Amino acid sequence: MVSYIDAATAPLKNTGQIRLYGPDDFEGMRRASQVTAACLDGVTDLVKPGVTTQEIDDYVYEFGKKHGAVPATLHYRGFMKSCCTSINHVVCHGIPGPKPLKEGDIVNIDVTFVLDGWHGDSSRMYGVGKLKRASERLIEVTHESLMRGIEAAKPGNTTGDIGYAIQSYVEAERCSVVRDFCGHGVGKLFHDMPNILHYGQPGEGIELKPGMIFTIEPMVNLGKPHVKVLKDGWTAVTRDKSLTAQFEHSIGITPDGCDIFTTSPKGLFNPLHPETQ
Ligand code: MF3
Ligand code: CO
Ligand code: CO
Repeated sequence: MVSYIDAATAPLKNTGQIRLYGPDDFEGMRRASQVTAACLDGVTDLVKPGVTTQEIDDYVYEFGKKHGAVPATLHYRGFMKSCCTSINHVVCHGIPGPKPLKEGDIVNIDVTFVLDGWHGDSSRMYGVGKLKRASERLIEVTHESLMRGIEAAKPGNTTGDIGYAIQSYVEAERCSVVRDFCGHGVGKLFHDMPNILHYGQPGEGIELKPGMIFTIEPMVNLGKPHVKVLKDGWTAVTRDKSLTAQFEHSIGITPDGCDIFTTSPKGLFNPLHPETQ
């Protein structure tokens, strides 16, 4: 049976209980998350043909330094970079390096900054120059699937309602949902309970309560849902080499819905439609 615990009195480790955070905690999450979102805004102009993913990583590190925030991924379980950069058929956890971006690439950039102990975790898609129609459609479907998941994130609903909202939409669009990675509790810890699956059935899973803080971060493939992890131990790719996309927000459940902590200050969250969150 799942149990819930007041985050103020809970030990700072994953005990299997679900932390319920208070209003001050939500403010802390918003501050950390807004540094992450501003950084992802700042990256937008950098993403051009010829730029290496290492240059993007350097930008993220420096941005954090300027704002008193530390990248949570740096030294995390042996990961040695300040962000993940996942290009084309890379599903997630791509490692920044000397490879330059090229015209037509689509890239997910995933940043988590820690500020005053709070983890703001978000990722977006970026297009390099002019994109193919199929790439644009995949980005559109993936963004919409996240927004539908967020719509289902409210008290009384369950984690299964979120998964169902995402999966039913994605599959109706003839795309597939990656099963091997999920959203997660976030806040004082980077990866906490509960797991937020991006597939499922209505009413399944854990009941959502005000004060819960977690990410939703669907990975959507144009082909089959299956992935494999490369020999570097991190880079996850689609088995069929099909194109894949991901968007991620950190959110907190409120009495009547949820707060999105990682909204873009400049309205750049969806690259195809500036002015969206
Ligand atoms: N930010 C990723 C997430 O959304 C986790 C990256 S862990 C890393 O949960 F080690 F690969 F960086
Ligand atoms: Co995450
Ligand atoms: Co992330």
